[in-house]
Amino acid sequence: MAERAELGPTGRPWPVIPEPRPVTHHGPARVVAMCNQKGGVGKTTSTINLGAALAEFGRKVLLVDFDPQGSLSVGLGLNPHDMELTVYNLLMEKDVTVDEVIVDSGIEGVDLVPANIDLSAAEVQLVHEVAREQTLQRVLRPALAHYDVILIDCQPSLGLLTVNALTASRGVIVPLECEYFALRGVALLKSTIDKVQERLNPDLEVDGLLGTMFDGRTLHSREVMERLVQAWGDAVFHTVIRRTVKFSDSTVAGEPITSYADSSRAAHEYRQLAKEVLGRWPHDV
Ligand SMILES: Nc1ncnc2c1ncn2[C@@H]1O[C@H](COP(=O)(O)OP(=O)(O)O)[C@@H](O)[C@H]1O
Ligand SMILES: [Mg+2]
Repeated sequence: MAERAELGPTGRPWPVIPEPRPVTHHGPARVVAMCNQKGGVGKTTSTINLGAALAEFGRKVLLVDFDPQGSLSVGLGLNPHDMELTVYNLLMEKDVTVDEVIVDSGIEGVDLVPANIDLSAAEVQLVHEVAREQTLQRVLRPALAHYDVILIDCQPSLGLLTVNALTASRGVIVPLECEYFALRGVALLKSTIDKVQERLNPDLEVDGLLGTMFDGRTLHSREVMERLVQAWGDAVFHTVIRRTVKFSDSTVAGEPITSYADSSRAAHEYRQLAKEVLGRWPHDV
């Protein structure tokens, strides 16, 4: 029988994904926006779990909740009404610094800048600011030296908050649900990324597209991944995140799946994503 390379879920042969090199010192951070204007595609889930997996590989991680829904903060066990300071105060109040806003995420090696519904006012108020698109970039700058990775969990829109996230970032990771409509949405997001790159942030690049809620038993999921690869080539991560009920449990637990269900397939997938992402980033991350 002829030998066949084992095909991964994206229809391509699995590459060799190197083990991450150990880090001996921290910073400067690579800032990455987790971005898709569609809701419910796995942005927040991927922010928590990729962050936790990167921390397992020794990286110091800061998660920034940049969605007025505050799902990232709530997902990590915070109460939206109990937050002293949030990213809103950081953006809008001159004397609030990033280290005053950072809280413990409950995950080892991972810190959090929380958000709640207050952030929805920032979208309106920022319009009147000078350099309104650069506000997040400016306020995060003092934190860069202390972390290896800063992940920004974007809200589901392409408005001013998301433009701030893209302007503050070096990379973008696009989580998308494995369904046909996803393909159209990515094209629209890419044109926003291109505009930000042209006008505000020439260094911005797409780190990768991540298929989520993948169901390998359906032709549909596999076809969507194949079409995504046809359109986006190597930008599509080899790793996909399969659909699993484990995530609803882990949200209730206020923990990442990598600790809640340490040896589950989903935990393995996010660890593999962390390795794949680290392999794509420059060697100093
Ligand atoms: N791989 C998955 N399998 C099953 N459910 C998932 C998966 N990833 C996320 N979910 C669930 O889907 C919902 C939306 O995910 P979320 O990460 O909040 O998306 P977004 O931040 O893009 O709105 C949540 O209830 C989450 O628990
Ligand atoms: Mg979200």
